[in-house]
Amino acid sequence: MNTTTNIDDDILLSRYQEHVLVITLNRPEARNALRNQSLREITTALHAAASDDTVRAVVIHGSQTVFAAGADIKEMAQLNAISALTDSRPEFWKIISAFHKPLLGAVNGYALGAGCELAMHMDIVIAGENAKFGQPEINLGTIPGAGGTQRLIKAVGKALAMKMVLSGEMINAQTAMAAGLVAEVTSDDTTLERALTLACTIAAKSPLAIRLAKEALLLSFEMPLSAGLNAERKSFSLLAASDDRNEGIAAFLEKRKPLFLGK
Ligand code: HXC
Repeated sequence: MNTTTNIDDDILLSRYQEHVLVITLNRPEARNALRNQSLREITTALHAAASDDTVRAVVIHGSQTVFAAGADIKEMAQLNAISALTDSRPEFWKIISAFHKPLLGAVNGYALGAGCELAMHMDIVIAGENAKFGQPEINLGTIPGAGGTQRLIKAVGKALAMKMVLSGEMINAQTAMAAGLVAEVTSDDTTLERALTLACTIAAKSPLAIRLAKEALLLSFEMPLSAGLNAERKSFSLLAASDDRNEGIAAFLEKRKPLFLGK
Protein backbone atom coordinates (compact mmCIF):
# COMPACT_ATOMS: atom_id res chain seq x y z
CA MET A 1 0.00 0.00 0.00
CA ASN A 2 1.25 3.51 -0.80
CA THR A 3 1.64 6.47 1.53
CA THR A 4 -0.86 6.75 4.30
CA THR A 5 -2.21 10.17 5.17
CA ASN A 6 -3.91 10.92 8.41
CA ILE A 7 -6.34 13.52 7.08
CA ASP A 8 -7.67 14.16 10.55
CA ASP A 9 -8.30 11.82 13.40
CA ASP A 10 -10.90 9.34 12.34
CA ILE A 11 -9.76 7.94 8.99
CA LEU A 12 -6.52 7.17 7.20
CA LEU A 13 -6.20 7.50 3.45
CA SER A 14 -3.85 5.50 1.26
CA ARG A 15 -3.51 4.25 -2.29
CA TYR A 16 -3.33 0.64 -3.38
CA GLN A 17 -1.60 0.34 -6.72
CA GLU A 18 -2.60 3.08 -9.13
CA HIS A 19 -6.34 3.34 -8.98
CA VAL A 20 -7.65 2.19 -5.60
CA LEU A 21 -8.26 4.62 -2.75
CA VAL A 22 -8.23 2.94 0.65
CA ILE A 23 -10.10 4.45 3.59
CA THR A 24 -9.17 2.99 6.95
CA LEU A 25 -11.57 3.69 9.82
CA ASN A 26 -9.25 4.61 12.65
CA ARG A 27 -10.90 5.27 16.02
CA PRO A 28 -9.81 2.14 17.86
CA GLU A 29 -10.48 3.70 21.27
CA ALA A 30 -14.19 3.97 20.34
CA ARG A 31 -14.32 0.79 18.24
CA ASN A 32 -14.49 2.95 15.08
CA ALA A 33 -17.81 4.44 16.19
CA LEU A 34 -18.92 6.78 13.41
CA ARG A 35 -19.23 10.19 15.02
CA ASN A 36 -20.22 13.11 12.79
CA GLN A 37 -16.56 13.95 12.25
CA SER A 38 -15.91 10.41 10.95
CA LEU A 39 -18.70 10.72 8.39
CA ARG A 40 -17.51 14.21 7.45
CA GLU A 41 -14.00 12.88 6.80
CA ILE A 42 -15.33 9.95 4.76
CA THR A 43 -17.51 12.20 2.63
CA THR A 44 -14.69 14.71 2.14
CA ALA A 45 -12.47 11.88 0.89
CA LEU A 46 -15.20 10.58 -1.41
CA HIS A 47 -15.95 14.05 -2.72
CA ALA A 48 -12.28 14.43 -3.74
CA ALA A 49 -12.21 10.89 -5.17
CA ALA A 50 -15.31 11.54 -7.30
CA SER A 51 -13.48 14.11 -9.41
CA ASP A 52 -10.09 12.42 -9.36
CA ASP A 53 -9.75 10.33 -12.54
CA THR A 54 -6.92 8.33 -11.02
CA VAL A 55 -9.35 6.86 -8.45
CA ARG A 56 -11.39 4.07 -10.01
CA ALA A 57 -12.52 2.20 -6.89
CA VAL A 58 -12.59 2.76 -3.13
CA VAL A 59 -12.12 0.19 -0.37
CA ILE A 60 -13.29 0.98 3.16
CA HIS A 61 -12.12 -1.17 6.05
CA GLY A 62 -11.65 -1.03 9.80
CA SER A 63 -9.43 -3.16 12.01
CA GLN A 64 -9.18 -6.92 12.40
CA THR A 65 -11.69 -6.84 15.27
CA VAL A 66 -14.08 -4.08 14.34
CA PHE A 67 -15.32 -2.51 11.13
CA ALA A 68 -17.46 0.05 12.98
CA ALA A 69 -19.46 -0.28 16.19
CA GLY A 70 -22.21 2.08 15.09
CA ALA A 71 -23.00 5.72 15.51
CA ASP A 72 -21.13 7.30 18.40
CA ILE A 73 -23.51 6.64 21.27
CA LYS A 74 -21.97 9.41 23.39
CA GLU A 75 -22.57 11.91 20.58
CA MET A 76 -26.03 10.50 19.94
CA ALA A 77 -26.91 11.04 23.58
CA GLN A 78 -26.65 14.82 23.02
CA LEU A 79 -29.32 14.83 20.30
CA ASN A 80 -32.86 15.97 20.96
CA ALA A 81 -35.70 15.68 18.44
CA ILE A 82 -34.88 18.97 16.74
CA SER A 83 -31.11 18.53 16.57
CA ALA A 84 -31.63 14.97 15.28
CA LEU A 85 -33.76 16.45 12.51
CA THR A 86 -31.29 19.17 11.57
CA ASP A 87 -28.21 17.00 12.05
CA SER A 88 -25.79 16.80 9.11
CA ARG A 89 -25.66 12.99 9.22
CA PRO A 90 -28.43 12.39 6.65
CA GLU A 91 -26.56 14.63 4.21
CA PHE A 92 -23.36 12.65 4.78
CA TRP A 93 -25.18 9.38 4.08
CA LYS A 94 -26.66 10.87 0.89
CA ILE A 95 -23.17 11.78 -0.32
CA ILE A 96 -21.96 8.23 0.33
CA SER A 97 -24.94 6.68 -1.47
CA ALA A 98 -24.54 9.09 -4.43
CA PHE A 99 -20.84 8.25 -4.93
CA HIS A 100 -20.67 7.01 -8.51
CA LYS A 101 -17.51 4.89 -8.36
CA PRO A 102 -17.41 1.36 -6.94
CA LEU A 103 -17.30 1.18 -3.15
CA LEU A 104 -16.02 -2.03 -1.59
CA GLY A 105 -16.15 -2.89 2.10
CA ALA A 106 -13.67 -5.22 3.75
CA VAL A 107 -15.43 -6.13 6.98
CA ASN A 108 -13.66 -7.81 9.88
CA GLY A 109 -15.20 -8.06 13.33
CA TYR A 110 -18.21 -6.01 14.30
CA ALA A 111 -20.32 -4.05 11.81
CA LEU A 112 -23.08 -2.79 14.08
CA GLY A 113 -25.75 -0.12 13.82
CA ALA A 114 -24.39 2.64 11.62
CA GLY A 115 -21.41 0.34 10.95
CA CYS A 116 -23.76 -2.22 9.40
CA GLU A 117 -25.49 0.64 7.59
CA LEU A 118 -22.13 1.82 6.24
CA ALA A 119 -21.45 -1.74 5.05
CA MET A 120 -24.83 -1.68 3.30
CA HIS A 121 -23.79 1.50 1.46
CA MET A 122 -20.96 -0.51 -0.11
CA ASP A 123 -21.52 -1.99 -3.56
CA ILE A 124 -19.63 -5.14 -2.60
CA VAL A 125 -18.84 -6.42 0.89
CA ILE A 126 -16.10 -8.95 1.54
CA ALA A 127 -16.39 -10.30 5.08
CA GLY A 128 -13.90 -12.08 7.28
CA GLU A 129 -15.09 -15.37 8.72
CA ASN A 130 -15.50 -13.81 12.18
CA ALA A 131 -17.39 -10.73 11.01
CA LYS A 132 -20.63 -9.95 12.81
CA PHE A 133 -23.41 -7.81 11.41
CA GLY A 134 -26.18 -6.33 13.53
CA GLN A 135 -28.65 -3.50 14.08
CA PRO A 136 -28.62 -3.30 17.89
CA GLU A 137 -30.34 0.11 18.11
CA ILE A 138 -33.37 -1.58 19.68
CA ASN A 139 -31.19 -2.29 22.75
CA LEU A 140 -30.81 1.49 23.12
CA GLY A 141 -34.55 2.09 22.81
CA THR A 142 -34.28 3.40 19.28
CA ILE A 143 -34.27 2.17 15.69
CA PRO A 144 -31.79 2.36 12.79
CA GLY A 145 -31.65 5.86 11.32
CA ALA A 146 -29.42 5.53 8.26
CA GLY A 147 -31.19 2.95 6.14
CA GLY A 148 -30.94 -0.02 8.48
CA THR A 149 -34.59 -0.88 8.07
CA GLN A 150 -34.91 -0.08 4.36
CA ARG A 151 -31.61 -1.39 2.99
CA LEU A 152 -31.46 -4.42 5.29
CA ILE A 153 -34.87 -5.73 4.26
CA LYS A 154 -33.91 -5.33 0.59
CA ALA A 155 -30.60 -7.06 1.18
CA VAL A 156 -31.67 -10.00 3.35
CA GLY A 157 -35.47 -10.19 3.09
CA LYS A 158 -38.21 -9.69 5.65
CA ALA A 159 -37.65 -12.66 7.95
CA LEU A 160 -34.02 -11.99 8.77
CA ALA A 161 -34.34 -8.19 8.74
CA MET A 162 -37.22 -8.35 11.22
CA LYS A 163 -35.29 -10.72 13.45
CA MET A 164 -32.19 -8.53 13.42
CA VAL A 165 -33.90 -5.16 13.91
CA LEU A 166 -36.49 -6.30 16.47
CA SER A 167 -34.18 -8.49 18.56
CA GLY A 168 -30.87 -6.68 18.09
CA GLU A 169 -29.23 -10.07 17.56
CA MET A 170 -26.17 -10.19 15.34
CA ILE A 171 -25.64 -12.53 12.42
CA ASN A 172 -22.33 -14.09 11.49
CA ALA A 173 -20.51 -13.87 8.18
CA GLN A 174 -21.87 -17.17 6.84
CA THR A 175 -25.46 -16.16 7.53
CA ALA A 176 -24.80 -12.74 6.00
CA MET A 177 -23.38 -14.44 2.93
CA ALA A 178 -26.31 -16.86 2.60
CA ALA A 179 -28.74 -13.95 2.97
CA GLY A 180 -27.05 -11.79 0.33
CA LEU A 181 -25.59 -9.10 2.57
CA VAL A 182 -22.02 -9.97 1.64
CA ALA A 183 -20.49 -11.17 -1.61
CA GLU A 184 -17.70 -13.36 -0.23
CA VAL A 185 -16.39 -14.70 3.06
CA THR A 186 -12.65 -15.01 3.53
CA SER A 187 -10.31 -15.93 6.35
CA ASP A 188 -9.89 -12.89 8.60
CA ASP A 189 -6.31 -12.24 7.54
CA THR A 190 -7.11 -12.15 3.81
CA THR A 191 -10.29 -10.01 3.80
CA LEU A 192 -8.60 -6.72 2.97
CA GLU A 193 -6.27 -8.35 0.45
CA ARG A 194 -9.23 -9.93 -1.35
CA ALA A 195 -11.16 -6.63 -1.39
CA LEU A 196 -8.10 -4.83 -2.78
CA THR A 197 -7.59 -7.46 -5.48
CA LEU A 198 -11.24 -7.26 -6.47
CA ALA A 199 -11.04 -3.45 -6.48
CA CYS A 200 -8.04 -3.68 -8.85
CA THR A 201 -9.96 -6.05 -11.12
CA ILE A 202 -12.82 -3.54 -11.27
CA ALA A 203 -10.41 -0.61 -11.68
CA ALA A 204 -8.98 -2.24 -14.82
CA LYS A 205 -12.38 -2.15 -16.57
CA SER A 206 -13.80 0.83 -18.41
CA PRO A 207 -14.66 3.44 -15.76
CA LEU A 208 -17.55 4.57 -17.96
CA ALA A 209 -19.04 1.10 -18.18
CA ILE A 210 -18.48 0.56 -14.45
CA ARG A 211 -20.21 3.84 -13.64
CA LEU A 212 -23.24 3.08 -15.79
CA ALA A 213 -23.40 -0.54 -14.60
CA LYS A 214 -23.44 0.59 -10.95
CA GLU A 215 -26.07 3.22 -11.73
CA ALA A 216 -28.28 0.73 -13.59
CA LEU A 217 -28.04 -1.88 -10.86
CA LEU A 218 -28.90 0.61 -8.12
CA LEU A 219 -31.82 1.98 -10.15
CA SER A 220 -33.52 -1.39 -9.73
CA PHE A 221 -34.17 -0.43 -6.08
CA GLU A 222 -35.93 2.74 -7.12
CA MET A 223 -37.77 1.93 -10.36
CA PRO A 224 -40.36 -0.46 -11.73
CA LEU A 225 -38.91 -3.09 -14.09
CA SER A 226 -40.00 -1.45 -17.35
CA ALA A 227 -38.43 1.91 -16.41
CA GLY A 228 -35.28 0.15 -15.19
CA LEU A 229 -34.99 -1.77 -18.46
CA ASN A 230 -35.38 1.48 -20.43
CA ALA A 231 -32.68 3.16 -18.36
CA GLU A 232 -30.39 0.15 -18.81
CA ARG A 233 -30.87 0.19 -22.60
CA LYS A 234 -30.11 3.92 -22.77
CA SER A 235 -26.87 3.45 -20.86
CA PHE A 236 -26.00 0.42 -23.00
CA SER A 237 -26.56 2.56 -26.12
CA LEU A 238 -24.58 5.46 -24.71
CA LEU A 239 -21.59 3.21 -24.14
CA ALA A 240 -21.55 2.38 -27.88
CA ALA A 241 -20.27 5.94 -28.32
CA SER A 242 -17.28 5.41 -26.03
CA ASP A 243 -13.70 4.71 -27.07
CA ASP A 244 -13.56 2.17 -24.26
CA ARG A 245 -16.27 0.02 -25.79
CA ASN A 246 -14.49 0.06 -29.17
CA GLU A 247 -11.23 -0.76 -27.40
CA GLY A 248 -12.86 -3.66 -25.49
CA ILE A 249 -14.25 -5.21 -28.66
CA ALA A 250 -11.04 -4.58 -30.67
CA ALA A 251 -8.91 -6.13 -27.92
CA PHE A 252 -11.11 -9.23 -27.87
CA LEU A 253 -10.89 -9.65 -31.63
CA GLU A 254 -7.13 -9.00 -31.63
CA LYS A 255 -6.64 -11.44 -28.73
CA ARG A 256 -4.96 -8.89 -26.46
CA LYS A 257 -5.74 -7.20 -23.14
CA PRO A 258 -7.85 -4.03 -23.41
CA LEU A 259 -6.58 -0.72 -22.13
CA PHE A 260 -9.50 1.33 -20.90
CA LEU A 261 -8.94 5.07 -20.60
CA GLY A 262 -12.39 6.19 -19.55
CA LYS A 263 -13.09 7.97 -22.82
C1 HXC B 1 -19.40 5.23 21.26
C2 HXC B 1 -18.39 3.23 21.69
C3 HXC B 1 -19.27 2.57 20.81
C4 HXC B 1 -20.24 3.35 20.13
C5 HXC B 1 -17.93 1.11 21.63
N1 HXC B 1 -17.59 2.30 22.19
N2 HXC B 1 -18.94 1.25 20.80
N3 HXC B 1 -18.46 4.54 21.90
N4 HXC B 1 -20.27 4.67 20.41
N5 HXC B 1 -21.08 2.84 19.24
C6 HXC B 1 -16.55 2.56 23.17
C7 HXC B 1 -16.94 2.08 24.55
O1 HXC B 1 -17.78 3.02 25.20
C8 HXC B 1 -15.59 1.98 25.20
O2 HXC B 1 -15.16 3.26 25.59
C9 HXC B 1 -14.70 1.51 24.05
O3 HXC B 1 -15.38 1.86 22.86
C10 HXC B 1 -14.50 0.02 24.07
O4 HXC B 1 -15.77 -0.60 24.09
P1 HXC B 1 -16.00 -2.04 24.74
O5 HXC B 1 -17.45 -2.27 24.79
O6 HXC B 1 -15.23 -2.16 26.02
O7 HXC B 1 -15.29 -2.97 23.65
P2 HXC B 1 -15.51 -4.50 23.34
O8 HXC B 1 -15.64 -5.29 24.62
O9 HXC B 1 -14.44 -4.86 22.39
O10 HXC B 1 -16.94 -4.60 22.60
C11 HXC B 1 -17.07 -4.14 21.26
C12 HXC B 1 -18.56 -3.95 20.93
C13 HXC B 1 -19.23 -3.06 22.00
C14 HXC B 1 -19.27 -5.31 20.85
C15 HXC B 1 -18.60 -3.32 19.54
O11 HXC B 1 -18.43 -1.90 22.20
C16 HXC B 1 -20.61 -2.61 21.62
O12 HXC B 1 -21.59 -3.36 21.73
N6 HXC B 1 -20.73 -1.34 21.21
C17 HXC B 1 -22.02 -0.70 20.94
C18 HXC B 1 -22.65 -1.27 19.69
C19 HXC B 1 -23.96 -0.58 19.40
O13 HXC B 1 -24.91 -0.55 20.18
N7 HXC B 1 -24.03 0.02 18.21
C20 HXC B 1 -25.20 0.76 17.75
C21 HXC B 1 -24.98 2.22 18.05
S1 HXC B 1 -26.40 3.14 17.73
P3 HXC B 1 -14.56 3.56 27.04
O14 HXC B 1 -14.42 5.04 27.04
O15 HXC B 1 -15.53 3.01 28.02
O16 HXC B 1 -13.24 2.82 27.02
C22 HXC B 1 -26.39 3.43 16.08
C23 HXC B 1 -27.59 4.23 15.74
C24 HXC B 1 -27.64 4.77 14.42
O17 HXC B 1 -25.54 3.06 15.34
C25 HXC B 1 -28.81 5.69 14.40
C26 HXC B 1 -28.45 6.91 13.68
C27 HXC B 1 -29.18 8.11 14.24
